[in-house]
Amino acid sequence: MCGIVGYVGNKTAVNILLDGLTSLEYRGYDSSGVALNIDGKVQLFKAQGKLKNLRDIVEKNYSDISKSTIGIGHIRWATHGVPSIANAHPHTCNCGRVAIVHNGIIENYKELRAKLEAQGCTFRSQTDTETVAHLIASKFAQTKDLTEAVRLATMEIEGAYALAVMHQDVKNTIVATRRNAPLVIGFGEGENFVASDIPALIQYTKRAMYLEDNQIVTLTPTEAKIIDSEKNIIPLKIETLPWEPVALSKMGYKHFMLKEIHEQPDIVRNVLTGKLKTIDEPISLNEVTLDVKKLKELNRIQIVACGTSLHAAMIGKYIIEDFCGIPVEVEASSEYIYRKTITDENTLVIGVSQSGETADTITAIRLAKKKGSHILIVTNRPDSTMAREADSLVPVNAGIEVSVAATKSYMAQLISFYLLAIYIAEVKGSIDTKELMELKHELILLPQKIDKILTHKENIQNIAKKFSSFKDFIFVARGINFPTALEGALKLKEISYINATGYSAGELKHGPIAMLDDTMPVLAILMKGKVYEKILSNAEEAKARNARMIALTDSDDKKLDELFENIIRIPEISEILSPALAIVPLQLLAYYIAEFLGKDVDQPRNLAKSVTVE
Ligand code: AGP
Repeated sequence: MCGIVGYVGNKTAVNILLDGLTSLEYRGYDSSGVALNIDGKVQLFKAQGKLKNLRDIVEKNYSDISKSTIGIGHIRWATHGVPSIANAHPHTCNCGRVAIVHNGIIENYKELRAKLEAQGCTFRSQTDTETVAHLIASKFAQTKDLTEAVRLATMEIEGAYALAVMHQDVKNTIVATRRNAPLVIGFGEGENFVASDIPALIQYTKRAMYLEDNQIVTLTPTEAKIIDSEKNIIPLKIETLPWEPVALSKMGYKHFMLKEIHEQPDIVRNVLTGKLKTIDEPISLNEVTLDVKKLKELNRIQIVACGTSLHAAMIGKYIIEDFCGIPVEVEASSEYIYRKTITDENTLVIGVSQSGETADTITAIRLAKKKGSHILIVTNRPDSTMAREADSLVPVNAGIEVSVAATKSYMAQLISFYLLAIYIAEVKGSIDTKELMELKHELILLPQKIDKILTHKENIQNIAKKFSSFKDFIFVARGINFPTALEGALKLKEISYINATGYSAGELKHGPIAMLDDTMPVLAILMKGKVYEKILSNAEEAKARNARMIALTDSDDKKLDELFENIIRIPEISEILSPALAIVPLQLLAYYIAEFLGKDVDQPRNLAKSVTVE
């Protein structure tokens, strides 16, 4: 999604803006731009496509551009209007003195645009954002005060926004505000920053503050003043960010995705640290406030999430129902929000989100909260909007994930679901102690097993090469690994653009089997346990239709050699924990296919890391 950076200080602004935008690239974008104040005049530089195109333009004019010590920058992910230079941000008013960058959607932009056009404003883009530039300019004409102009403009805007604004006549000042879109302020010495996310600031300052909805900050090189929509002054609450810039480096890997896949053994250890101490001690989840009384009153759990987080949630359902005996419903947040959902004070609603900023999931949890449900958030960003609105929190501690394709955050979400389910089971006393101890023991051994897959990946690389020219791919599984099949297919399609689909193996013969012939690879996830023999029969049916069969298994069963053309063997693991191991080869398979095809692995087309619009 769009990313914003603003800088006001004593250094060359454009360098800081371009570096900041580079570190926000992971969010996904199709064009970019900066507004600078050069010799007292606001000037715009914009480019379509990758940031390199903007850098080239900047380089050509660098001697002038480098004079500016104030600027706002933007990477755009098109919502209203095609990706183009005209639609790229910053946008300006008629006279070009106001420049703004925006993340979000202005829902009433059509009405605003009609009104502003009637007042004589000329629009140069198809965007919703440009209306805000004209609106702020008209308010500034009345008030001659940029902060007040922004405040008055936001009172007429409906929708979601993070905005950074500068005005040619208001020297060394950036005004920024937000509603339902993230924005963070960074504080330096003689310089201040504003950005959509911390990676854009972290190499310059670790002192930061998250702006709340409807707050407006006025930044100069030496000051940051915050007010709310009623003009009340908000005291600064500056926090020290824990992040190290090194976390954002590829550390020698060709892509962030590959690095993040390899971080997973450590991520599992991180998630377990402090929560699972020994196998005979209860799990401790400090920020979960569900006690025995609350748990006894619960009649159901609903989990809302999107994309990969939704797949983690689907596995969460299996685990919680199995350990805790509480009925669990899982729904895509985007579906949950526009129907009559049955939710009440005896329903626990769990929101799962890597970013904690996914607009649909935020809307879903707010809806449930209004109906009285306890809201528990499982997120990788304890500083996010969702985390701040939660009643209970499970921080997943995966560190920043740069690649758009979620890998380590998915692993961390899965482990968090195991911990949460065990925690609830222990509070409720719903599971046998011996079984619990075995499971905890297996969780502790999991990182070693993942390591084993990561150190023997040649087979997966060879299979990737062999199947990279296929146009379609089917993943099948049953039971707790059905969501693993969905996630394996999602990984492959999002980074290689191969048409990959996950099916419950039992459903194959109810329709999808019609597609099978020797042009269709079918990858069967065959983990030992309740449904092993069933999937084997389903695989036989697929093989009989000449499908190109691949197995992913923890079994050394010799009959698999006859049935499957290729086999990915992974360490043995209990069925209940198997999704945390089975996903790793599928992430690698997707990675190597995409890499072999020369795709932009870390920034796949059309995708955004943090989907902050509905
Ligand atoms: C998966 O690789 C994607 N990045 C995407 O499906 C993602 O999981 C989804 O957009 C939800 O994001 P969230 O976890 O930040 O809420």
